Amino acid sequence: MGISSTSVGPLERLRGVLPDVEIAALAPLIEEIEELKQRRNAVVLAHNYMTPDIYHGVADLKGDSLALARMAEKTDADIIVMAGVHFMAETAKIVNEAKTVLIPDLGAGCSLAESITGDDIRLLRQRYPGVPVVTYVNTSADVKAESDICCTSGNAVQIVESLGVDRVIFLPDQYLGRWVATQTKVDIILWEGSCIVHERFTGAELREYRASYPGIQIIAHPECPPDVLEEADFVGSTSGMINWVKRERPKRVVMVTECSMSDNVAVEVPETDFVRPCNLCPYMKMITLAGIRDSLRDMKHEVLIDPAVAARARVAVARMLEVRV
Ligand code: 13P
Ligand code: SF4
Repeated sequence: MGISSTSVGPLERLRGVLPDVEIAALAPLIEEIEELKQRRNAVVLAHNYMTPDIYHGVADLKGDSLALARMAEKTDADIIVMAGVHFMAETAKIVNEAKTVLIPDLGAGCSLAESITGDDIRLLRQRYPGVPVVTYVNTSADVKAESDICCTSGNAVQIVESLGVDRVIFLPDQYLGRWVATQTKVDIILWEGSCIVHERFTGAELREYRASYPGIQIIAHPECPPDVLEEADFVGSTSGMINWVKRERPKRVVMVTECSMSDNVAVEVPETDFVRPCNLCPYMKMITLAGIRDSLRDMKHEVLIDPAVAARARVAVARMLEVRV
């Protein structure tokens, strides 16, 4: 999978997404990025939470964490610019170590990744000997290296069940873990991490949407607390949510997740009315068009992982990628 070839240029793709005056203002920057991508044989992989100028303008490939990992594994570009957060860039490097992986802003972290260390996993293993560790990809390479297998929000239930055991340690997202526990008979030992964006939603807020907008469809990311997920008509990864809206074409929907998602999908599904609560991920929003340009121009910030750590982390990520969902 290389640089996606499309007959429609980036500025054309932005028509109807941004006001014409904004497109005109962004045109020199976007053209610079396109020229740098060609010159360096680089590809921009973008997470679904990127702002529309990045998502519709300069992304060559876009998706949820699982799709980004698969794209990074397959790309024939020399350079991967990760328009996403640091753990996504590390995962790209883990699955395709020969590539140069760049992240435009080193501050683009994740509250889940910060909630656990490799030492924590070693302690958990002492406490629960023989119980396999299933680790959400929203973690550092060090943590992945201590894990038996990784998962994403798009495959967590299948990964837990693929192990054929009665009990797993699931970390670090307690809410994703609790949701998985509702979908399987496998006993789930939780860690107390959470996402600062999704933990803010409440079931009461969603009941208010139902009262204010009769017939509204509620779709939620599994990083949300249980009372939110109980209210939801559909629960899935970011790409799962996008595909659901494109398939079902609801009259009105609220996507209970980071708010750039609705902006990105609304353009593609104009007949649907999106009610948009705005919870921004401050880490994702550190990635900007100017940052992507600087990253490609100055070859910064290169994501490097200790080869011994990367080799162990690769086992856990590769095991995940072998499970087809
Ligand atoms: P997805 O894998 O569903 O895109 O989720 C990643 C993430 O960070 C959600 O907050
Ligand atoms: Fe991490 Fe939450 Fe931001 Fe996703 S939205 S990157 S889980 S802090």
